[in-house]
Amino acid sequence: MKATGEIGRSILSDTEFRQFEAAEELFPGGALGGNSLASDARFVFKNGKGSRFWDSSENEYIDYVLGSGTFFLGHAHPVLQKSITEQLSRGTHFFAYLNEQALEFAKRLKPLIRCAERLRFTTSGSDSTFHAMRLARAFTGRDKIIKFEGAYHGVHDYAQISTTPKTPLDFPLGTPDTAGVPEAVRDLAMIVPYNDPMALEDIVKSHKDEIAAVIIEPIQRIIMPQDNFLQKVREICTRYNVIMILDEVVTGFRYGLGGAQEYFDIIPDLASYGKIIGGGLPVGMVAGRADIMDQANPSNKGKPGYVYQNGTLQGHMLGCVAGLATLDVLSTPEIYQKTFDRAQRLRDGLQKVFTDQNMGILVFGEGPMWHMLFTNEEPKNRRDVLAANSIKLGKMEPELLRQGLFVLPGNRRFISIQHTDDDLEATFEAAKRACKVLKK
Ligand SMILES: Cc1ncc(COP(=O)(O)O)c(C=O)c1O
Repeated sequence: MKATGEIGRSILSDTEFRQFEAAEELFPGGALGGNSLASDARFVFKNGKGSRFWDSSENEYIDYVLGSGTFFLGHAHPVLQKSITEQLSRGTHFFAYLNEQALEFAKRLKPLIRCAERLRFTTSGSDSTFHAMRLARAFTGRDKIIKFEGAYHGVHDYAQISTTPKTPLDFPLGTPDTAGVPEAVRDLAMIVPYNDPMALEDIVKSHKDEIAAVIIEPIQRIIMPQDNFLQKVREICTRYNVIMILDEVVTGFRYGLGGAQEYFDIIPDLASYGKIIGGGLPVGMVAGRADIMDQANPSNKGKPGYVYQNGTLQGHMLGCVAGLATLDVLSTPEIYQKTFDRAQRLRDGLQKVFTDQNMGILVFGEGPMWHMLFTNEEPKNRRDVLAANSIKLGKMEPELLRQGLFVLPGNRRFISIQHTDDDLEATFEAAKRACKVLKK
């Protein structure tokens, strides 16, 4: 690993070129998942440490993607390394039967999460939202789920509707984001605009006997809830007897140990978790009201109302010890305050660079997430995001990458507890260089 401290990349090396050629033969589109980088700004990851990582050609980058927000602790945190290596020698998993590590982890988690009368581990964020929706449907005996246009809740059919609609339809009609979603499921998702409590209430009121749950990201991608929107969603759900699912996959443990529930002072009926909770290992969780969660009591298997909730890797010991280590690190006094302050300095500094360079970019966000759009006003919903200049953004993001800043294309950016003031300075310099290139 080269550690020059100099960030930025040159053209694709022969090694990387051959790696991409090999990948084309192995994976659909040469990609590990649903994303790939622009052909003129791509690289192969080699290793990471703290806020930085290196590619196969030893180029160094500052990471603002952090494993899609998983590594709030930064890469290869020593406390995580220690907990995982110690557990490795003791065996790592014995199927989803009770184990000591899972029990200890759950005992630490429960008092932190306001809605958690009961909890159940899963193995990913998608798993968590899938099971939360199933629990809600079983509890209410209704099939429809309301989700907000532009919200992401994972890969399963109910979730893959109107996350990235190309041609927005009239609410509450949804459009599948992927081929293969059955039409019947598409018709069970009702889509409403984020930050619009009246639109939500209208739909809930007129379909209350069909709707099981409203699922909501407390901060929808890059959009903050405005005018107590989350409280209003809570009130509407209570008024019409609909389950409120707060999707804390991104916000959980990022906005404080109590996540968005603590940060925004809200108690949903169910909450879903992923990303930070397992310290980078495959752990998710559903937490919530005992009467809803207890439907998944396995001693009721075969009885009416029993909800099957299971997964081979649930309660995986490596994930549980990594989760416990994560909680230890995040319990360090002032760790959130320091990270939030640094993130604010990052937003302010970047805004200054872009304003000085006359780029027409707005930098915004709150807590350890930041965003930028070519727009004048912070977006309130998905359609505002679409109204910003995406062509310019599509040019700026690969240029930031070439200058050594890894940002998630078109989406939120994260900062870890290990980002430093030096990273901030290097970021401002890289952003200045990117502006100059783009102006040419
Ligand atoms: C809010 C939210 N929910 C659910 C998911 C799905 O999580 P996973 O990718 O772990 O399945 C994500 C992933 O980014 C997410 O951001």
